[in-house]
Amino acid sequence: MNSTTVSANITPTPVTISTMTITPAAPVSVPSGPIFDKGLANTIVAETQMSFIDGGKGVLEYVGIEIDALARNSTFEETVYLLWNTKLPTKAELDGLRSALQAEYEIPDAIYDMIKSFPRDAVPMHALRTLVSALALHDLDADACGTDAAGLAAAKRTSLRLVAKTPTLIANFDRHRQGKAFVRPNTSFDIATNFLWMLNGEKPTEAMSRGLDICLILHADHGLNASTFAARVTIATLSDMYSAMTTAVGTLKGPLHGGANEEVMIMLDEIGSMDKVESFVKGKLERKELIMGFGHRVYKAYDPRATYLKTFAKQIATDTGNLNLFNMSQGIEEIVLAAKADKGIFPNVDFYSATTYHCLGIKTDLFTCMFAMSRMSGWCGHCIEQLQDNRLIRPQAKYTGPHAAPYVATADRR
Ligand code: SDX
Repeated sequence: MNSTTVSANITPTPVTISTMTITPAAPVSVPSGPIFDKGLANTIVAETQMSFIDGGKGVLEYVGIEIDALARNSTFEETVYLLWNTKLPTKAELDGLRSALQAEYEIPDAIYDMIKSFPRDAVPMHALRTLVSALALHDLDADACGTDAAGLAAAKRTSLRLVAKTPTLIANFDRHRQGKAFVRPNTSFDIATNFLWMLNGEKPTEAMSRGLDICLILHADHGLNASTFAARVTIATLSDMYSAMTTAVGTLKGPLHGGANEEVMIMLDEIGSMDKVESFVKGKLERKELIMGFGHRVYKAYDPRATYLKTFAKQIATDTGNLNLFNMSQGIEEIVLAAKADKGIFPNVDFYSATTYHCLGIKTDLFTCMFAMSRMSGWCGHCIEQLQDNRLIRPQAKYTGPHAAPYVATADRR
């Protein structure tokens, strides 16, 4: 791979690094030493072949295929294969992945017992983070991942287990907190159908399965977002996949990241009706409060996942008698865009996924778990990419404390 640096004070012109074309945000003066880039918005720390984002144009591609085409035509399992193998699978290859995932849906009895020990009012993302971590105790491969062929093979086996088991963890934690019996996975179902089967104890309609499948496709990967970066930092120490996924789940939980979808639904519930949308939103804007589900570190145009989800949300809201939710969302969007579009603030993936998950019958406090269920595939893919070309990730901090300070005996301190 040729290394290309953006030389100082040039007009922003596209430079090509391997397969990606990156247009610098603005002319930067590149000092000889370390660059202070708070939030790392202008720093590239890795290469990836999985997802490409053009934030200015609102483009997202998985291995070069536009997200809209995948949402309309693909399945989550096919998307997982695409991300992990950087090519669409043949029928035999897809059948092979699907069977391998189904064979790993089940979780150890000890994990079911652990779920029984959880408080019924536990925060679902705390429960998921704990359970993902606990899976390591029952996987003999847990510490076998590494940078050589055997280590990469072990990381791929663990990735399969994590993507396959996460739905079982989430659904059965929800069963437990409702005082309902566990529902074991059905290994003849695909991931979306299997999740809704375990969650509700009955086979979902085709439309519901497809709706969840589309959400899983849309949330699978998204460059070096905070949780993916966190996972890479962990695996780059040659720790293990379970530790990396535990890091990622904990990072995704934050309301500035994956937790926003729950906050959007809480906002819609708080507004309550269409006639209150304007006063609620304008009040938040006047108080300079964040409107959850809007804005993005990379997109300064419409998030292409929100574009698709908006269309889908309207359809599923209509079909399920929740059109008021969609209409309120659209009303919020119109007011925020009028006030903030010129600042690059548009709906992001979380805004319309809230209505969609609600219409799928998912409880609000499970929305971020749904995000994690899908992004587990992207996180694992990035960890494997990191292992394939690893370097410990260790940035610097700018020291702003004192120097040459004396050690003062306790008796002399004030
Ligand atoms: C996800 O990175 C990814 O790819 C993430 C993700 C993925 O797939 O992994 O896409 C998923 O996390 C989507 C984002 C979900 N988060 C939210 O919806 C929370 C609300 N959004 C904001 O917190 C914010 O937009 C961020 C955190 C997402 C991005 O913030 P930045 O890039 O740090 O930008 P900023 O906070 O510096 O904002 C710039 C300006 C500020 O105004 P000024 O101080 O310049 O006057 O825009 C304003 C902000 O106040 N602004 C908003 C806003 N987001 C930014 N104002 C109102 N509502 C908002 N949502």
